[in-house]
Amino acid sequence: MTVGESATATVLVTGGLGYIGSHTCTVLAEAGYRLVIVDNLSNSKPGVLERLREVPRADIVFHKLDLRERASMEKILSGIDAVVHQTPPKKLTLQAYADNFR
Ligand SMILES: NC(=O)c1ccc[n+]([C@@H]2O[C@H](COP(=O)([O-])OP(=O)(O)OC[C@H]3O[C@@H](n4cnc5c(N)ncnc54)[C@H](O)[C@@H]3O)[C@@H](O)[C@H]2O)c1
Repeated sequence: MTVGESATATVLVTGGLGYIGSHTCTVLAEAGYRLVIVDNLSNSKPGVLERLREVPRADIVFHKLDLRERASMEKILSGIDAVVHQTPPKKLTLQAYADNFR
């Protein structure tokens, strides 16, 4: 999938309200992609979502959810064309690895 002017695909961005994720979402929304964001707000604020929705014609569905909630994630993944995963912690300790990748 490439970023283009006639994008219609739906992209799931995990951690989409974080530093890198929100910039990713801005670029994708500006390119016309539909966005589904999963973020548990453990290191971000809802105000970021409000700013993302200011992108003209932005089409964003937000789920305040921990991505480890498998049943919910399986439902969300239905209809998703691509995933951008931006939730791993910057400092990857063994415990953090276990928390995010189990
Ligand atoms: N910030 C940088 O300069 C930089 C540079 C290179 C790579 N990275 C990588 O990019 C990724 C994201 O970094 P960042 O700086 O945007 O971090 P961040 O903490 O700003 O964003 C992470 C987002 O994920 C959410 N989150 C965390 N755990 C979650 C979970 N279990 N379920 C749902 N949401 C969850 C947080 O609420 C936050 O909004 C990391 O893997 C990091 O190593 C960051």
